[in-house]
Amino acid sequence: MPDEPPLTAHELGEEAAALIDELSRISAEEDKLTRLYLTPEHRNAADLVARWMRQAGLDVREDSLGTVRGRLPSSMPAYGEKCLLIGSHIDTVIDAGKFDGALGVICAILAARELRKRGIDLPFDIDVLAFGDEEGVRFPTTLLSSSALAGTAPYSELDARDANGISVAEALREFGGRPENIQDLKEVPEKLVGYLEVHIEQGPVLEREALPVGIVTSLAGAERHWITVQGEAGHAGTVPMDARKDAVSAAADLIVSMETAAKSARSDGVVATVGELGIHPGAVNVIPAQVKMTLDLRAATDRPRAAAIDEIKARAARISRKRGCPIEFDQFHEVVTSPCSEIFQDAAKRAIASMGIRPFRLMSGAGHDGQAMKALTDIGMLFVRCRKGISHNPSEYVSIEDMGMAVEATVRWVAEIAQQEMKA
Ligand code: GLV
Ligand code: MN
Ligand code: MN
Repeated sequence: MPDEPPLTAHELGEEAAALIDELSRISAEEDKLTRLYLTPEHRNAADLVARWMRQAGLDVREDSLGTVRGRLPSSMPAYGEKCLLIGSHIDTVIDAGKFDGALGVICAILAARELRKRGIDLPFDIDVLAFGDEEGVRFPTTLLSSSALAGTAPYSELDARDANGISVAEALREFGGRPENIQDLKEVPEKLVGYLEVHIEQGPVLEREALPVGIVTSLAGAERHWITVQGEAGHAGTVPMDARKDAVSAAADLIVSMETAAKSARSDGVVATVGELGIHPGAVNVIPAQVKMTLDLRAATDRPRAAAIDEIKARAARISRKRGCPIEFDQFHEVVTSPCSEIFQDAAKRAIASMGIRPFRLMSGAGHDGQAMKALTDIGMLFVRCRKGISHNPSEYVSIEDMGMAVEATVRWVAEIAQQEMKA
């Protein structure tokens, strides 16, 4: 039985804020937060998170792909051997905010500790997960650590290389992982209750609704491509304008055309982003021979996304013909729209209502590990309000009060799911 009063939401928020700050100091860059998968910074962050898990009373291990896992055993083993997974990620984008991913991992650790301290009946184990590859920034392998648990990560993913030519397998060995075990990580679906995640909203809806937390209904589908535009190198001073095959000019046409295609899509959920672009050979006096760029394409549902990529490829073919520059698309990531479990949504609704907060549902335009976990088990997500909806930006901000509400909501959400399991 608990021997001290539970912490208030404000106290939980202050704890979460201190941990967020500590984790945010682990970065590859002095005055920016950048923590990519399988880097020395990821190693340090994983070790710190493992220490927090131990302090929270969890049994800690690290899987072969670097995911840190902390287990709170069931308080009622007679109910069987099922497990509820709760997690998020500790990798970041380049020059990131400090809440994306970290908040969900910290909420899960604090919630697991509170469930234990408050003596809440748990008819299942809880595994808190700190994934390492949600952002997909270092390697072209988005959601690798969660896909491995779902059994959807093929060996070939280990050959993907970063910009320095280092493969996932090489980086993993350096990190202390075991790439050869990638296919042994698959969880048994029958032994799982589901996967839950808390995450900053990364959009403006909850702020507009004046709500600290919201219940996610589904996660938008997404796809990512490398696009190669092939031109012909030439002398910047001698080749007349009408005799050039300038890869940058063709790429510029294509970028604007992709933006137009997304804007004019009939469904307003279609968004297209070119976030990386490289010019070869990249010299002031050489007509560019090649451009390589990424396309990140998303939509609220799968059909408009499929229509948008068809439209973009048709536009690319026209630009290619007009400019004499072949354009190739090489898709390296796709996740379909992932609905969240109605049962988990209803449990979250009861949990949030019990705190005197209006339950509110919204969808996620951002990508999350739940998209990979959906292939394994039911998923549920809670969003936490962030200032002005800003994310993937160092000015990302969540208030202490909202973090506290998020931890408390997570405790009550799990308690609701536990009650439901005991009735089942
Ligand atoms: C992850 O943050 C993504 O949505 O790309
Ligand atoms: Mn994230
Ligand atoms: Mn992110």
